[in-house]
Amino acid sequence: MEILKSERLNNLSYAIRGPIFEKALELERQGHPVLKLNIGNPAPFGFDVPPGMMEGMKEHLKQAEGYSHHLGVMEVRETVCRYYTQHGFTGLKPEEIFIGNGVSELIIMCMQALLNPGDEVLVPAPDYPLWTAAVGFGGGKAVHYVCDEANDWNPDVKDMEQKITARTKAIVIINPNNPTGAVYKKEVLLEIVALAEKHNLVLFSDEIYDKVLYDGLEHIPVATLSDNVHFMTFGGLSKNYFACGFRGGWVIPSGKRSASFLEGLNLLASMRLCANVPTQYTIAAALKDDSVIRGMVADGGRLKEQRNLIHTRMSAIDGVSCVKPKGSLYMFPRIDLSKFNIEDDVAFTYGLLTEKKVLVVAGTGFNFIDKEHFRIVFLPDLATLADAADRIAEFLESRRK
Ligand SMILES: Cc1ncc(COP(=O)(O)O)c(C=O)c1O
Repeated sequence: MEILKSERLNNLSYAIRGPIFEKALELERQGHPVLKLNIGNPAPFGFDVPPGMMEGMKEHLKQAEGYSHHLGVMEVRETVCRYYTQHGFTGLKPEEIFIGNGVSELIIMCMQALLNPGDEVLVPAPDYPLWTAAVGFGGGKAVHYVCDEANDWNPDVKDMEQKITARTKAIVIINPNNPTGAVYKKEVLLEIVALAEKHNLVLFSDEIYDKVLYDGLEHIPVATLSDNVHFMTFGGLSKNYFACGFRGGWVIPSGKRSASFLEGLNLLASMRLCANVPTQYTIAAALKDDSVIRGMVADGGRLKEQRNLIHTRMSAIDGVSCVKPKGSLYMFPRIDLSKFNIEDDVAFTYGLLTEKKVLVVAGTGFNFIDKEHFRIVFLPDLATLADAADRIAEFLESRRK
């Protein structure tokens, strides 16, 4: 008899590396190169990890042979604590900061540590799909609140409030956002804080893109807006510092902390022993010097130019509309399907892949409510992005009604 996977996995998915990604790899095996705009992994597109980080790792390799403390090397947690304190956080304690193998591991651990069967967590739609999956895997139920395309993809706080029940334990926000590129307005953040405070909810804020900001925009860490909510703020090396492969991230409890939840998280951290130790020794250099990412998002910088190109080119297609990303590495355009012979977002992505060899991810892969969106990654250089835009435009023209 076949040995079956755990039933806890039955409704979980991760579209970014899902079946369409396998299809793209199959096409490549058959000799058809695919333009992969499906994943926010800067290194393959020529983004180098800032130099000081490599030195930090090399210099400490000898000290990195053994396990570290299960929460992370103390001097690294002290550095993270100092950095966030300098950036407006109050009451932080290094002994409460958790270093993880990327933000991903910490998201999963937090959900495992918090949830009982049937507990609900408010997760954005669209979301970064690990959040929905991690809630499910932790035994909880992800309840999606809508982010409003007409309001620069800011969360619809009224919708959020309507979805709070006696089982709701937490709210998740992703700011700057993957997949929409939104950077949330202060007044929206204050409303979310007020909700979390009123209903005694943990506020998880995924801020892994907090330096990937365009047009001189400021990012406001939500945890700096109150002391009366249990905040968990996530940051990491993958995006601001192009070091996805290092697998380095952290989560910072602040505000009205819950000792029992943190005790649970501590237990889980001890069970996985520690995060990658060589990587931990790159964190101080990363936080000390953010000049590389600042240059990339400034006027004339590579990421800003690429953001501009993809926004201009996609918006120029009759039947496609796009909110211009204010942060992160993604855009989430809408296709007006009434103008094309395309059934839905999934049919669009498969057609685009098989006919034009461009890989993007369908909006429903981000748990979005309609089937008219897709996410495009704008990491490739301008020439490659222009080529991708041409192919998308040609594909849509071929299906125009
Ligand atoms: C919003 C968001 N959170 C977390 C992650 C995972 O990051 P890490 O590489 O630190 O696990 C990603 C990766 O794309 C992301 O987009």
